[in-house]
Amino acid sequence: MKKFIALLSVLFLSAALVACDNGGEDTTITIGANIYTFGDNFMNGVVRPALEDYADHLGVVIDIVDSENDQGKLNDQVDVFIESGVDVLCINLVDPAAAGTIIEKAKAADIPLILYNKEATVEGVMATYDKVWYVGTNSAQSGIIQGDMMLADWQANPSWDKNGDGKVQYVLLKGESGHPDAEARTTFAVKSFTDAGIEVEELALKDSSTWNTQEALDTMASWITSYGDSIELVISNNDGMAFGAITAMETAGVDFPVYGVDALDQALQHIKDGEMNGTVLNDGVNQARATLDLAVNAARGVDVTFATAWELDNTTTKAVRVDYLAVTPENVDEF
Ligand code: BGC
Ligand code: CA
Repeated sequence: MKKFIALLSVLFLSAALVACDNGGEDTTITIGANIYTFGDNFMNGVVRPALEDYADHLGVVIDIVDSENDQGKLNDQVDVFIESGVDVLCINLVDPAAAGTIIEKAKAADIPLILYNKEATVEGVMATYDKVWYVGTNSAQSGIIQGDMMLADWQANPSWDKNGDGKVQYVLLKGESGHPDAEARTTFAVKSFTDAGIEVEELALKDSSTWNTQEALDTMASWITSYGDSIELVISNNDGMAFGAITAMETAGVDFPVYGVDALDQALQHIKDGEMNGTVLNDGVNQARATLDLAVNAARGVDVTFATAWELDNTTTKAVRVDYLAVTPENVDEF
C-alpha cells in the first residue's frame, strides 16, 4: 500500500509539472539586450558570444541588437523592447552619461534593468530605481595592474630610457573620453611611475569613442612621423587599439614596448610572439554570466544574487565587479 501511495504521488507530481508546462502562459524568460557597437573588439568578440552561450545554457531567450555607437538609436531600441514585452533589459550604454534616460524608461514600464560594461557616470542615478543594477569591473584596478606591469618592466630594462633622461616619454591611446574605464586607466597607468618617483612625459594622447583598431593605426602612424624614436612606451587602454599601434610600428619598421587591456586571443598571441609586452585580463565571460544571472533573478522577482556567487558592492552603485588579472610573457600560457 505504501508503495502504491508513493507511486501515486510521483504520478500526481509529474502530472502537475506537465500541467504547469503546457497550461497558461509561456514562462520562458525573454531578455532585450544590446552591444553599444558591434564594431568593438571586446564587446562583440568576447562579451556577445558569452551572452549568447550562457543564455542557451540557462534556457532563456536573448535578443542582442547593435546600437551602432548611437545613444539615440539605443533609446529607440529600448522602447521597442519594452513594447514587445521583454521580461528584463541588459543594456550596454553608448553614452555613460545617458543612464538616466534608460532607467526612466525601464522604471515607467516596471521592467528590471541590468546596465553592463559602461557604468553610469551621473551621481545618484542608480538610486532612482530599485530594479536597476550594474555589472562591470573596478575600472581603477585595470590601470593599476597595467601601470605596475609597465613599471616593473621599465625598471628591469634600463635601455628603454632611450634618451637617458630618467623620464618615460609615452604616447597613450585612450579610448572613449568620459568612459569610466578609459578615464581610470589613463590616470592609474601613469600613476604607478610617478608613485615610484619616476617622471613621465606625455608626448601625445588620443581618444576614440569606438576604441577601435583602424583609428589607432592611423593615430600611431602619425605619432611615429611626429615623434619617431623619442617614443619610449605605448600605453593602450585596450587591446583593440594596441593592435593598430603594432601594425603601424611594423609598417614603419620601429619597435616600442606596447601594453593593452582585455587579453583578447590576438593579444595573447602577440605577447607570445614578443610583439606586445603585456595586457590585463578583462573577464568578459564572467561579466556576461553575472549580467544574465542578475537579469534572470530580477525577472523572477527574487534577490538578484540568489543562488549565485556574485556579490553587490554596496547599496548605492549596486554593482557586481569582476576582477582583472595581469597577463605577462611569464604567465601568458595560463590564459
Ligand atoms: C574594454 C574595451 C571596450 C570598452 C567598451 C572596456 O571595458 O576594455 O575594450 O572597448 O569596454 O565599453
Ligand atoms: Ca626618457
